[in-house]
Amino acid sequence: MTASRPVIVCGNWKMNTTPADAAMLAIEVARATEVPGVVRVICPPFVSLHAVGNALRDTDVAVGVQDVHAEPFGAYTGEISAPMVAGLATWAIIGHSERRRDQGEDDELIGRKLLRCAEFGLRPILCVGEQLAERQAGNAERTVRRQLERTLAEIDRASAEPPANLVIAYEPVWAIGTGLTARGSDASSMAQLIRDTLAGHGITESAADVPVLYGGSVTSAAIDEFLAEPDIDGALVGGASLKVDEMAGIVARAGLTAAARQTA
Ligand code: PGA
Repeated sequence: MTASRPVIVCGNWKMNTTPADAAMLAIEVARATEVPGVVRVICPPFVSLHAVGNALRDTDVAVGVQDVHAEPFGAYTGEISAPMVAGLATWAIIGHSERRRDQGEDDELIGRKLLRCAEFGLRPILCVGEQLAERQAGNAERTVRRQLERTLAEIDRASAEPPANLVIAYEPVWAIGTGLTARGSDASSMAQLIRDTLAGHGITESAADVPVLYGGSVTSAAIDEFLAEPDIDGALVGGASLKVDEMAGIVARAGLTAAARQTA
């Protein structure tokens, strides 16, 4: 059942590195993570896309962006759109909780960003996840379902289809950058809820094929618990993605999962 889904490890460098050091880090990560069966993606800052893309040209590590604007072009000073990066990246993180928090991004806006990804050939990793207070109040599932439903409703409104190559990252907000992680079993039940919600919204045929990643303080030591869950297909890694040794450990563990699922 899980064999049809890829195992994916995506590094989100956030607002770290400069064009001068990004290429070297990308090469070192690529070399340290050459493991069969794992899809690797690096998302550097926009200004380093070109340098990182060049550095990774002879590897199969893909390059992603950390965001795109909801419109393809226009009077939006300082913004970056999907067609601008389409030749520099093939993946895009959409709806990261830091953008929801700092830029006030809501689910409707995030739905429009997904449409831009589909239009311009970027594979989206849509981030969802609850706040600590929502989990403590027993509302974690409700929050994630609502985020997905509102995002998909925006796609319906545009009479469009959800991107066929959609990836979801379940990232509990309280676990991001805090050193706290969810429990593997909680991440797994959230992955099931995510696929059930997608199945109820026009992705009926393929919901079982949508990869669901876990994100939130993933390290080489913490990854095991998540990849042991058949419903989790990899990780979105923040802080640890800037450390070559950590990425080596995380991708090595992901390689074991990929190999085991292939023979299952
Ligand atoms: P973290 O970030 O691994 O540093 O917690 C994860 C993310 O924000 O995607």
